Amino acid sequence: MWLLRPRGVYRPQADTWLLADVLDRTGFAPGADVLEICCGTGALSIVAARTRPRSLTAVDCSRRAALATRFNTAVRGIRVRVERGDAFARTNGRRFDLVIANPPYVPGEPALPARGAARAWDAGVDGRAVLDRLCAAAPALLAPGGTLLVVHSALCRVSTTLRQLRDGGLTASVVARAEEPFGPVMRAREHLLRERGLIAEGQRHEELVVVRADRVPARVPRPRVSATTSTEHGRDPVTSE
Ligand SMILES: C[S@@+](CC[C@H](N)C(=O)[O-])C[C@H]1O[C@@H](n2cnc3c(N)ncnc32)[C@H](O)[C@@H]1O
Repeated sequence: MWLLRPRGVYRPQADTWLLADVLDRTGFAPGADVLEICCGTGALSIVAARTRPRSLTAVDCSRRAALATRFNTAVRGIRVRVERGDAFARTNGRRFDLVIANPPYVPGEPALPARGAARAWDAGVDGRAVLDRLCAAAPALLAPGGTLLVVHSALCRVSTTLRQLRDGGLTASVVARAEEPFGPVMRAREHLLRERGLIAEGQRHEELVVVRADRVPARVPRPRVSATTSTEHGRDPVTSE
């Protein structure tokens, strides 16, 4: 996929394409309100647009990423509302039918970077700084019947993601996996990751997973029909009046 990618904006890679593949294969119904959290170049918003959504919103804290998403979607004639800022502050109180996210998930320093390219991957000591917030926000972000798709490395504990989402009342399961060789960021952190017991000696691969979580659809109230009433009036109780 050709994309404008200003310096410092995340280059779509294996995690992006694993999530894109799930999006393409799942066959979401048209007419949905879709949100991409952590949009980078907007690659996943472009793929999500193939589901023919009613609305498409993309959020990233990086100014350059927001610009790139605006450009990459506009040149394809895709209408997207691109917002710049913290994804959870920007979307608080809003609901979507489909939420997709490839958040930062690489374990690193405790403090998250305030600026620069590392915002795309640095995610605190255990790699869960943004993931934990996403799992906590998901139940409120999803409309009834809505779906979340999130990709991350198994290094930052898939079981925690599943548990947090289920604790929030969602169903959650792993819907795709892929084994990938470490990229430059992971290679540079091998020592630190080994020290923290997150990888084994000599490990050069990580497993990427896509987790799907669903909110149960709203119950449609069934019309209350009284047998007495229908007999008394001699009419079809559902269609009368
Ligand atoms: C791994 S990149 C993913 C980019 C794109 N979705 C892709 O798959 O190619 C993560 C993105 O999250 C953004 N980001 C990090 N923390 C964020 C936050 N709290 N709110 C919004 N965006 C955030 C970064 O600027 C970066 O563009």
